[in-house]
Amino acid sequence: MVESYSQNANHNMRRPVVKEEIVDYMRTHLLENQGHLAEIEAFAHEHNIPIIQHEVVAYFRLLMKTLAPKHILEIGTAIGFSALLMAEFAPESQITTIDRNPEMIGLAKENFDQYDSRKQIRLLEGDAVDLIKGLDQEYDFVFMDSAKSKYIVFLPEILKHVKKGGLIVFDDIFQGGDIAKPIEEVRRGQRTIYRGLHRLFDSTLKHPGLTASLIPMSDGLLLLRKDEDDVILSD
Ligand SMILES: C[S@@+](CC[C@H](N)C(=O)[O-])C[C@H]1O[C@@H](n2cnc3c(N)ncnc32)[C@H](O)[C@@H]1O
Repeated sequence: MVESYSQNANHNMRRPVVKEEIVDYMRTHLLENQGHLAEIEAFAHEHNIPIIQHEVVAYFRLLMKTLAPKHILEIGTAIGFSALLMAEFAPESQITTIDRNPEMIGLAKENFDQYDSRKQIRLLEGDAVDLIKGLDQEYDFVFMDSAKSKYIVFLPEILKHVKKGGLIVFDDIFQGGDIAKPIEEVRRGQRTIYRGLHRLFDSTLKHPGLTASLIPMSDGLLLLRKDEDDVILSD
């Protein structure tokens, strides 16, 4: 039994920002996962563990094959599904992934022991806010999939560890569509995330040192390409 996530968890992941029939079409027509990835995906769905949704899986296959990143950083491992997906489709990559939830870490370790056959993945245990300061590597691909209100808090440090030309992908950035509403219409419990995401957009979307794209896929992806050696965000 997995205890970290209840049936009512991940509210925004169940509010697609694209018409439901299109979401269904994508999820039923894109190539299914095979083997261990299919098993881990099914386990996550059974236990309400929030992993990337199927259209994002397909997009990541394409990104990994096209970009062939050598050094990947992921914030938010959960049970290791997206890390194992990236490892499979970027077989030359080394992946550092961070999580702080002991239950998720336990399950991720089991999955990595069993399925990370090329030993590509290194799991760092603890809060990303502390761990990212100690990173000793430059990354060409970063996947941000942790607490949404903290994306903007992590980003200045993350940017120091991304190569010029590197890509940062943020998952779940539309809050099921709330992001486009005035704050008074957003549930009180969701307002910290709302403010954090707005700060993230304000600091990045038109930044001269970044190329930004917002993709209405799943609950929304933000893609940032780091165009210069040093990118400093203004407050
Ligand atoms: C959406 S899940 C990650 C799903 C995974 N990327 C996948 O698609 O297979 C988010 C994870 O981020 C972790 N997390 C949230 N905030 C964090 C933080 N500040 N530091 C480390 N991990 C964090 C949670 O414990 C959770 O396991």
